[in-house]
Order: sequence, then structure tokens, then C-alpha cells
Amino acid sequence: MEMDNILCTVSADFPIGHRVAFECFWNGAERSVMAFRDQSGQWIACVNRCPHWAEALDSSSSVIYASNREHIVCSIHLAEFRTCDGVCTSGPCLGARLQMIPVQWHDGGLWLMDHIPLTSI
Ligand code: FES
Repeated sequence: MEMDNILCTVSADFPIGHRVAFECFWNGAERSVMAFRDQSGQWIACVNRCPHWAEALDSSSSVIYASNREHIVCSIHLAEFRTCDGVCTSGPCLGARLQMIPVQWHDGGLWLMDHIPLTSI
């Protein structure tokens, strides 16, 4: 299998509520990325940069979920972003959006959605 396009290796049972961080080239630039599983176990990834102050979302805390578990929370000023689309629904950057990255877990790691080798699906 061609492994050049794998973003990071991570186990299939990576615990919900934790995050994995890595760098990747996406949308024309090298990005710091945070990925995690939502409550249904689906992988979600976003550029690890809050639209409020352009700081890493997890720079002050490793807690990524708001109490409702349907939003992730910036550790600095506690803006809350919907996991489904990255839109801020509460906090100082209301209506701003995280840069979501379409990923899928496959064969031991995370891949960009359109980079999974067809021969291995
Ligand atoms: S830096 Fe994220 S809410 Fe202010």
C-alpha cells in the first residue's frame, strides 16, 4: 500500500475525548492539525487554530469537548465550535468557522478523504 498520503498513524480504538496532533500539508500550506473522534466514533480533523486570536485551540488545556459533547471548545477564551461544521456558536468569535479537514480512518491511520488508496478499500 502507498503510505505517502497517510496523515498519521493511530489505532482504531483511539479513545473518544482525546485528540491527536500532527502537521500536514493541506489547502496550500503546512498546517498544525488536531483530530479526534466524535461521540459516534467518526474522526474529525481541523486546523488547530482558533479564528479568534489565531492561537492553538488546545494551547491552555487538553480538554477538547464542551460539556454537551457536540462542540469542541477553545482552551483560551472558551469559544465553542460545532463538530459537524466547525461553526462557532458561543464565545468571542460567534459565527466564525474552524478550518475542517475531511479525514477518514483506514488501515491504521488517518487519511485525507480523497487520498485513500483505491486498491486498499
Ligand atoms: S483564542 Fe480561542 S476563543 Fe479566544
